[in-house]
Amino acid sequence: MVKLTGYKRIKTAVFISGTGSNLKSLIKFSKTRQSPISINLIISNNPKAKGLNYGKKFKIRRKVFNFEKKSQIENKILNTLKHYDIKIIFLAGFMKILSKNFILKFKGKILNIHPSLLPKYKGLNTHQRALNNKEKYSGCTVHFVNSKLDSGKIVLQKKVIISKNETKHSLAKKVLIQEHKLYPRAILKVFSL
Ligand code: GRF
Repeated sequence: MVKLTGYKRIKTAVFISGTGSNLKSLIKFSKTRQSPISINLIISNNPKAKGLNYGKKFKIRRKVFNFEKKSQIENKILNTLKHYDIKIIFLAGFMKILSKNFILKFKGKILNIHPSLLPKYKGLNTHQRALNNKEKYSGCTVHFVNSKLDSGKIVLQKKVIISKNETKHSLAKKVLIQEHKLYPRAILKVFSL
C-alpha cells in the first residue's frame, strides 16, 4: 500500500456565512487519499454560522471577522491567511463580496460555488428567479472568482431538471445535493489543469 507520509497537501481556507453543508463536503473530500488539499482554516463573517461547528468537530481553526469596516478587515484576513500559509480560498455560501484588492492578492486562487447555471442568475435568489422564468433546468457552477460578481472562469457545472411542482425550497435542496459532489470534482479538475 502506498503510504501518504510526506505527501504534501496544499493548505486552503473555506469562507462561509451559514449552514456550511458545502464546507462539510469539502472537509470530507480533503480527508480522502486523492485530495490535493487540506483545509486548515475556516473564516466566517457571521459568528452564528452553523457551519462553524464543523470546525470544532473536525478540529479546524475558525476565525470570525466583522465585515463592517471591510478594507481593514480584509487586511486582517490577508495577514491571517499568510500566517497560516493558506494558498487557496474556497468560498462556500459566503455572503460577503470581497474587494478587488483582496481578489488581486489571491489572483486565480479563489473558487466559488454558485447555485445556478452561470452566466444565468448571478447574485441572490437564484432558485426563485429560475422558477419565475419557467426554466426547464437549473443547477450549480464552480468558478474562479474575479472582481465581477459570479463572472469568473467556469470550472464545472451540473444541471438538474426542474420538475412540474418544483418550489424554490425543493429546487434548492436538489441543487445542494449536486453542489456537494461538484465542488470536490472541480477542485480535482483545477489541480489537473
Ligand atoms: C449554497 O447553495 C451555495 O451555492 C450558496 O449558498 C448555499 C450555501 O449552503 N452560495 P451551505 O452553507 O454550504 O450549506
